[in-house]
Amino acid sequence: MFFFYLLLSFMLTSTLLANKITDDHLALLAFKNGVTSDPSGALSSWNIETVHFCNWTGVSCSSHKHPKRVTALDLSTLGLGGFISPSIANLSFIQSIELSINGFSGEVPPEFGFLHRLQYLNLSFNALHGVVPVNLANCSKLRVLSLFSNQLTGSIPVELGQTLPKLEKLVLGNNSFTGVIPSSIGNLSSLTLLSLTLNNLQGIIPEELGRLSKLITFLVAGNSLNGSIPPVLFNISSLILFSVTSNELDGSLPPSLGAKLPKLTKLFLGGNKLSGTIPASLSNASMLQTIGLSKNKFSGTVPPVFGGMNGLFLLNLERNQFQASDAKDLSYIDSLVNCSNLQAFSIASNDLGGVLPQSLTNFSKELRFLFLDYNHFSGIIPHGIENLISLNIMNFGGNDLTGQIPEHIGNIPMLQILSFEDNKLTGNIPSNIGNLTQLAEFRISGNKFEGTIPSTMKNLHQLTTLDLYDNSFRARDTRRNLLANNYHFVFWI
Ligand SMILES: *[C@@H]1O[C@H](CO)[C@@H](O)[C@H](O)[C@H]1NC(C)=O
Ligand SMILES: *[C@@H]1O[C@H](CO)[C@@H](O)[C@H](O)[C@H]1NC(C)=O
Ligand SMILES: *[C@@H]1O[C@H](CO)[C@@H](O)[C@H](O)[C@H]1NC(C)=O
Ligand SMILES: *[C@@H]1O[C@H](CO)[C@@H](O)[C@H](O)[C@H]1NC(C)=O
Ligand SMILES: *[C@@H]1O[C@H](CO)[C@@H](O)[C@H](O)[C@H]1NC(C)=O
Ligand SMILES: *[C@@H]1O[C@H](CO)[C@@H](O)[C@H](O)[C@H]1NC(C)=O
Ligand SMILES: *[C@@H]1O[C@H](CO)[C@@H](O)[C@H](O)[C@H]1NC(C)=O
Ligand SMILES: *[C@@H]1O[C@H](CO)[C@@H](O)[C@H](O)[C@H]1NC(C)=O
Ligand SMILES: *[C@@H]1O[C@H](CO)[C@@H](O)[C@H](O)[C@H]1NC(C)=O
Ligand SMILES: *[C@@H]1O[C@H](CO)[C@@H](O)[C@H](O)[C@H]1NC(C)=O
Ligand SMILES: *[C@@H]1O[C@H](CO)[C@@H](O)[C@H](O)[C@H]1NC(C)=O
Ligand SMILES: *[C@@H]1O[C@H](CO)[C@@H](O)[C@H](O)[C@H]1NC(C)=O
Repeated sequence: MFFFYLLLSFMLTSTLLANKITDDHLALLAFKNGVTSDPSGALSSWNIETVHFCNWTGVSCSSHKHPKRVTALDLSTLGLGGFISPSIANLSFIQSIELSINGFSGEVPPEFGFLHRLQYLNLSFNALHGVVPVNLANCSKLRVLSLFSNQLTGSIPVELGQTLPKLEKLVLGNNSFTGVIPSSIGNLSSLTLLSLTLNNLQGIIPEELGRLSKLITFLVAGNSLNGSIPPVLFNISSLILFSVTSNELDGSLPPSLGAKLPKLTKLFLGGNKLSGTIPASLSNASMLQTIGLSKNKFSGTVPPVFGGMNGLFLLNLERNQFQASDAKDLSYIDSLVNCSNLQAFSIASNDLGGVLPQSLTNFSKELRFLFLDYNHFSGIIPHGIENLISLNIMNFGGNDLTGQIPEHIGNIPMLQILSFEDNKLTGNIPSNIGNLTQLAEFRISGNKFEGTIPSTMKNLHQLTTLDLYDNSFRARDTRRNLLANNYHFVFWI
């Protein structure tokens, strides 16, 4: 019996020694020790006495190596809390670490720098703080580094751009990084995704990033970047998504903007201090689906560049200084008739005059949002605007429009917000307004409407805001028609 025990003990020990099982086994147990919260009991299988560690939840091993070594750890979305143990550095054969969408806090262990085989590291959506350890630059096989949505601080290590030639995805968005974008990132010639969104980065966008010839997604929105957008970035013809929204960028767009962007589908430049005109070459970026140029200082007439963009979905030009005084200046609106997927169009708060083009009524029947407010459009509201049967919001406020509210306005079944405020409109409110059963806001203050508001408005059960102020309604009848209903809304009369 004693002999048998000795034998067993010897066999076990020799197995442990011969197989060097200890390193990975102990490293995993130490990792488990760092986990203080495991609501789904995912790590309860992590017990060598009953299950080999290669069969533990989330652990993968090499199939051919002896002894078996851990090659991947995938513990995403398990609600794990605690810290990431530095012992992970002893998993020296590991290639992939996926710990995203958990509650890990503490720091990113510098010991990751020992993992020379590491190709994939995803720690996004945790609560990690501290800095990005420079040692990560030792992981020269790294292809993916994602630290999105943590609470990391400090600057982006210059070294990442110097020693990680295989990096394809660098995702550092939604942290609290400060400092500048290192120009060394321009060395990462395999990079397809660069996300630095939502940090506190300052300084310029380095021209060196123009060397990233495989870049598909460029996201630096929500920082404090200044200077101009290096024109060379628009030479990267692999780009599909380009966003610099909400920075302090100035300067104008290069004349050749769209000439080399055959794949670009999303262009977000809103919320900066960009000026100058929209280059005519944008028409060559015919795959564009989303164009956001709002809240800048763009000026001049908008060129008719959209007609070849069959997939255009959203065009937001609001809050700029675009100009127009006649039909020719507004011909870009005619060019939008071709865009059969258009769902949102805003040119609100610009310097646009002239008569509203009739082509508006031929816009996509998919259109849901139409903002033309706060310009100085004149003339009448185009007859047939009710063709836009999918509209949720129609805003003509703050112009010089004359004539009446189109008599078939009640035929737009999903209309929720309708504004004609601050124009020179006259006549009565059509009684079919009562067909707009989804209407939540109806604003017509500051016009010359007369008569009374129609009694059909009692059908508008969703209405929360009715603004009739400053018109020439017959007060008594209007009050009567309003009081007849059980409205729970705010109104000014
Ligand atoms: C893991 O479990 C499977 C079946 O449950 C078994 O065939 C395999 O040998 C186990 N692997 C190790 C390394 O123990
Ligand atoms: C790695 O393993 C060695 C030997 O087992 C041990 O001495 C060391 O503390 C381990 N390192 C970490 C960071 O756990
Ligand atoms: C990694 O690189 C740093 C400097 O970049 C160096 O000091 C360190 O010794 C290297 N090795 C490891 C395992 O971090
Ligand atoms: C990292 O994890 C998140 C969340 O699981 C996932 O959405 C994302 O695609 C991963 N990042 C990369 C670059 O694979
Ligand atoms: C950014 O991170 C915060 C928590 O740090 C989170 O609440 C927020 O949803 C994240 N934003 C995005 C866009 O992921
Ligand atoms: C990386 O880029 C920097 C700055 O752009 C440059 O000085 C450096 O020589 C480059 N290093 C490598 C290894 O390419
Ligand atoms: C950008 O901002 C930094 C301070 O954050 C300032 O030193 C620099 O002069 C600015 N550069 C430009 C081009 O405006
Ligand atoms: C873009 O590429 C063309 C040649 O393909 C070159 O002539 C031009 O100078 C480049 N633009 C910039 C800003 O580098
Ligand atoms: C669009 O591209 C074609 C071919 O490259 C070129 O001839 C044309 O001038 C470009 N159009 C604009 C407006 O840049
Ligand atoms: C609209 O599309 C047709 C065919 O797709 C094209 O011939 C026409 O030039 C386009 N119109 C505009 C204004 O771009
Ligand atoms: C609107 O479309 C109709 C039918 O396709 C066409 O006959 C009409 O000329 C178009 N009107 C405008 C202003 O584009
Ligand atoms: C719309 O309103 C008018 C006038 O109130 C009414 O005659 C008509 O039947 C209504 N149409 C629908 C589709 O409800």
